[in-house]
Amino acid sequence: MLSLKSVDLRKVKAETLAIPVCEDRDIHDDKIITSLITRAKKLEEFKGDSGEEVVFYNPPELKAERIILMGLGKLEKLNAESLRAFAGKAVKKCINMKLPEVLIVLPSAKKIKMEMPLPLEAIIEGACLGNHIFDKYKEEKKHIPLEKIDFLVTPDVAKSAGKILKSVTTICEGTIFARDLINTPSNDKKPEQFTKIIADIAEKENLKIKIFDEKELKQNKFGALLAVAAGSPSKPRMIILEYNPKGAKKTVALVGKGVTFDSGGINLKPTGSLDEMKSDMSGAAAVAATLIALAKLKPKIRVVGVIPVVENMLSGDATRPGDIVRSYSGKTVEILNTDAEGRLILIDAISYVVEKYKPETLIDIATLTGSCVVALGEKIAGVFSSDNKLAQSIVSSGEKTYERCWHMPLPDDYKEDLKSDFADLKNIAGSKWGGAITGALFLAEFVGDTKWAHIDIAGPSYQKKGSDYCGVGGTGFGVRLFCDLLEKL
Ligand code: BES
Ligand code: MN
Ligand code: ZN
Repeated sequence: MLSLKSVDLRKVKAETLAIPVCEDRDIHDDKIITSLITRAKKLEEFKGDSGEEVVFYNPPELKAERIILMGLGKLEKLNAESLRAFAGKAVKKCINMKLPEVLIVLPSAKKIKMEMPLPLEAIIEGACLGNHIFDKYKEEKKHIPLEKIDFLVTPDVAKSAGKILKSVTTICEGTIFARDLINTPSNDKKPEQFTKIIADIAEKENLKIKIFDEKELKQNKFGALLAVAAGSPSKPRMIILEYNPKGAKKTVALVGKGVTFDSGGINLKPTGSLDEMKSDMSGAAAVAATLIALAKLKPKIRVVGVIPVVENMLSGDATRPGDIVRSYSGKTVEILNTDAEGRLILIDAISYVVEKYKPETLIDIATLTGSCVVALGEKIAGVFSSDNKLAQSIVSSGEKTYERCWHMPLPDDYKEDLKSDFADLKNIAGSKWGGAITGALFLAEFVGDTKWAHIDIAGPSYQKKGSDYCGVGGTGFGVRLFCDLLEKL
């Protein structure tokens, strides 16, 4: 339970207070808090430097059992992300101390030179996301999420910001839903199961749902998607979720790569981090979670989410390198590498949604290439679009949410490299360089005139180590980004 509180700390008993502290400046309005911090700073071990923490008990000034002061460093370095990190770390610390609740004290917006509700949003996000633990598969639950997180704000904010608390938590719950899906092992999210998990929740939220099963995919000639699914005994699906509010003028389509496990197929991936290929459905998770969040947030825009779901395995029935398939669009593709499977399922989903829904804007999100991780590292997504304005909107939503995105090029002349000797296209480029770009160019062949962007999240969708407000595993990257972006489109 998250709630906004405005109480007098002298009178009200709070078990645990978490307070952000700047090294060089006072950032609080309440004199009591300021005097507390001044006293603590007299200690050798706490100056408010970034990463410093100090806990003390039963301070004489307050009716609190324990106070956690957390250093944020110099004021000039303070921003929304450092507030998210502060709140996430505060929550994690309380969880580790086996506490059931915390009251997080907000700094004065004026003193940190941020405009409300920005700091409030950031602190709610960090706290909410930091309170997530994926322990479904552990018999012994060592850490228990906090039952109650309160945010101490001024009375005017407490009165007016209820809406913000609700929308931010809805979006964060979406991120958490996506994380849980990504962390779920592939043996528990085969395409049929994965589809059911999403459909059950979507139904509850009154989204319109259409599911293509294998038979319908065959009848409708989703040849590229079916080629990827061929090697697995688990049959493919395609999910279409639609959020269509009254009065919506625009339609945006979101397409998410849903490979529930990517072995590489006959081009089998080497041993190393094959287990992480359970996360190859992170794009799908982001799209599903975004639609579920939209159903609660109710913005005035029609959004169609298309999620092709397959498992990329190898068997006697698997697609072979050199095989030629006819995609939904009619174009033929020579499959030269069965590990370049994401683009194959995406082109059929893209062609379908362009044909049936004629969206103004189409954005696909996919763990598409290792090459994008080579280019941008593990924390930044690549954005590919010939529409500079759309790309810029995505990049700026990335800055706002700290789901960082970088605009990458789509050079026309690189297309040459995707021409096949025997079919219309081949699914990998001749050159081993620039794989993120040629992957995007391959998709571009199927969008027609639709305004389109592709987001490659192979890097930021998954992390091997926990960070300030996200544990090991799926990050849920894309949900906060999309929710911010869709408001602007
Ligand atoms: N799912 C992978 C991409 C990936 C790599 C995601 C690392 C997350 C972390 C994708 O299907 C893939 O295998 N791509 C190939 C493409 C190549 C064969 C053109 C790659 O990146 O090596
Ligand atoms: Mn692959
Ligand atoms: Zn893949």
